[in-house]
Amino acid sequence: MIKKGIILAGGKGTRMSPLTKAVNKQLLPIYDKPLIFYPLSILMLANIRDVLIIVNKGQLEQYKKILPPKNNLGIKITYVEQKSPNGLPEAFILGEKFIGRSDVALILGDNFFYAQSLSKILKSCTKLSSGAKIMLHKVGKPERYGVAKIKNRKIINLKEKPKKFYSDLAVTGLYFFDNKVIKYSKSLKPSKRGELEIVDLLRKYLKNNRLKAEYLGRGGAWLDTGSIEDFYKTSSFVSAIENQQGFKIACLEEISLNNNWIKKNHILKAIKFYGKCEYSEYLKKLL
Ligand code: TTP
Repeated sequence: MIKKGIILAGGKGTRMSPLTKAVNKQLLPIYDKPLIFYPLSILMLANIRDVLIIVNKGQLEQYKKILPPKNNLGIKITYVEQKSPNGLPEAFILGEKFIGRSDVALILGDNFFYAQSLSKILKSCTKLSSGAKIMLHKVGKPERYGVAKIKNRKIINLKEKPKKFYSDLAVTGLYFFDNKVIKYSKSLKPSKRGELEIVDLLRKYLKNNRLKAEYLGRGGAWLDTGSIEDFYKTSSFVSAIENQQGFKIACLEEISLNNNWIKKNHILKAIKFYGKCEYSEYLKKLL
């Protein structure tokens, strides 16, 4: 059972400059809350209470300000700084001490997921006993993503940004790994663009037929917020759902309360922390 998770929330956010000159992308708003709330909510929905957030140098204090204080969520958050964006697998090298002998989940700090029975899907992923599992989702423009080719429900190959149609199943930014991930990540060499590549790491598992797929499903949404346009699209999506249905996506305290990790007095503390705002009004309704 996977009980630890990493959020990779560094990166340069070059595509969103000048917005990201002083503030990290994950601290910017997706509708009514900072982007970082969304990947954190996914780990919490997967029943993961031990979280490592990898941040950029100089941004740690900002993250501590924006995330609810210790114990308010009933989870443990640890931070590690990444000196420069050397690639996704570096998460497992920087996170070696945090991971210890456990298996681990990784979510990219700028990935947004929303789907029917998401929590059930996530919990089934954390049941992984060995190998790795990746979350796939059908997309309209596969040439923008890493994609996986499937045959008889098995992953047979992976391709990074294929120019010609290869598969329309994108590899999203949510992964589940056994403990070998540390060893495999350490053995990777930087690619031509000077980064450790996630696709090279996944190939290590693929080679031994140990790479499994999970699907978000037809009704699900996966949005990877790399550009300002993506921020707008994702914000509109969240706004439409929240305003129509009256519940919030990625309300961290609500997830904790439902998981029985916190009690109502923590919600009162949270209301005090956020102050007079719409998010607090929503929290009041939970009481
Ligand atoms: P990217 O989209 O590769 O990078 P970025 O978000 O910084 O954007 P840009 O390309 O515009 O510079 O990264 C995806 C996510 O992973 C994002 O949330 C940042 C994070 N990341 C790290 O924290 N460290 C890394 O070394 C890399 C490559 C990404």
